[in-house]
Amino acid sequence: MDTNFTILAIETSCDETAAAVIRGGRTIISNVVASQIEEHRRYGGIVPEVASRQHMLTIEAVLHEALRPLPGGWNDIHAVAATYGPGLAGALMTGLNVAKAIAWIRELPFVGVNHIEAHIYANWLLTDASSTAPEPRFPVVALVVSGGHTLLALLEDHGRYRLLGQTRDDAAGEAFDKVARLLGLGFPGGPAIQRAAEGAPGGVTLPRAWLRDSYDFSFSGLKTAVLHQIRDYQAREAALQPSVSKSAGRRQASAPTDATSLPPAIVARLARAFQESVVDVLATKTVEAARAFGATEVLLAGGVAANLRLREELQRRSPVPVRVPPVALCTDNAAMIGAAAFYRFDASKQNSWDLDVLPNLPLNTAQNP
Ligand code: KG4
Ligand code: ZN
Repeated sequence: MDTNFTILAIETSCDETAAAVIRGGRTIISNVVASQIEEHRRYGGIVPEVASRQHMLTIEAVLHEALRPLPGGWNDIHAVAATYGPGLAGALMTGLNVAKAIAWIRELPFVGVNHIEAHIYANWLLTDASSTAPEPRFPVVALVVSGGHTLLALLEDHGRYRLLGQTRDDAAGEAFDKVARLLGLGFPGGPAIQRAAEGAPGGVTLPRAWLRDSYDFSFSGLKTAVLHQIRDYQAREAALQPSVSKSAGRRQASAPTDATSLPPAIVARLARAFQESVVDVLATKTVEAARAFGATEVLLAGGVAANLRLREELQRRSPVPVRVPPVALCTDNAAMIGAAAFYRFDASKQNSWDLDVLPNLPLNTAQNP
């Protein structure tokens, strides 16, 4: 397809209001992300209602900024794309409807993009550091690890995917966020745990859910294991405090998840043990899949791909090169939506105006309209 083909892409599936202009599927003309993290931080997680409203308030300014580098403004746009799932229904609706309205008014083709697929396509984008990098060559194995998803997929071609495995409970990012909360490290948990674990001593080993003979994952048991470690530590401390009155001791022992009472050294050790467990399972299964399916490359994607230990371990263990987008393209953004959209337009795929949001849209091309 024409390497000048320029797509305006919009992403509002969760808590980032984002718009980008992508040329030829790989060149980023603009990439604007307005994060709502401050709006949600006080709740310790994402509040869907707050997210939807915030998208409405922000989208116009974000679009304006994304179009700024285009000399011809709207005239330079050849097509429009937006995420239609998976994600929060109300949040998705904002971006999808804005994209449809723009496409309709300007009589441009329009496609809806699968958010998980788009995370993988972040690996097609060119950045300054990768400006001469060739496109990934199929077959590739992709590990998508974000706040909402954890899955391994085999990509045999554009639009031809096989879901190899996925999480049976919490997503990897969700586990990071929940464990960070247990440890009193705040939100979002991924970066906080990574920071806390840096330079922490070993000595604690947490379980790994291997789920043998399957590429599936499970992280909820690990979260419970962290909780047990915190409780055990607090019970030991309470038993060791003769100077504290009996009732005070009991109070402490019965407040097992009060993370503010955990000394930083314990927090650091548990953060490290948790991170090592998650990274070990993710890296092991990804490398196994790459070998089993003869992948030419491993592609890492999603917010948790920002994790330095995960990058390091995959690179160390993988028999084939590991491609990881820069951090800003790992977390939610619209540039990746534009990249994924390009290959859908290239395959002459377009959507009609009645495309609805699909909050549970799987990574399964058969179900993509
Ligand atoms: O892909 P993303 O921006 O949003 C979703 O689509 O879910 O991913 C956000 C997730 C959060 O759970 C966050 O804690 C996690 O990515 N994350 C990390 C790191 N940076 C962000 N997890 C581990 N290590 C990091 N450095
Ligand atoms: Zn995402």
